[in-house]
Amino acid sequence: MLVIGSDHGGLTLKMALIGYLTRRGIETSDAGTDNNDSVDYPEFGLKVAEMVSCGSADCGILVCGTGIGMSIVANKVPGIRAALVTDVFMSRMAKEHNNANILVLGGRVLDEQKACDLVGSWLDATFEGGRHQGRLNMIADVEKKYCR
Ligand code: RB5
Repeated sequence: MLVIGSDHGGLTLKMALIGYLTRRGIETSDAGTDNNDSVDYPEFGLKVAEMVSCGSADCGILVCGTGIGMSIVANKVPGIRAALVTDVFMSRMAKEHNNANILVLGGRVLDEQKACDLVGSWLDATFEGGRHQGRLNMIADVEKKYCR
């Protein structure tokens, strides 16, 4: 199951992405927000990141205005590798090299077609492992050092 969340700045793009994911037959859970009222992105970023971190979701997508705030908060949660991407090379690499378990997008940065292309290339890519796994292990060690 894929969990997707946004603040008000990412709501419109999130709804478009839910349509895209549904058309692709991907089971999706919407963690909110569900209206245009101004909300605090850390609340929704944390919710999605915790679901991915604890395994109740396989992966996640976060959308705020720029994607910056969501990526900052999600990457505070142990086990999360959240990647803010703006082109298909980045979104493919986010999986192939970084095994990103959350994709982060800017709702005020991307049009809907571009955002669907980014999500598609991330979902369709495969983690390459090998030397890249060693680097992810190094990141996990950093987490162990600072997350107590
Ligand atoms: C909300 O106005 C905006 O700050 C938020 O969506 C996001 O862009 C933060 O990084």
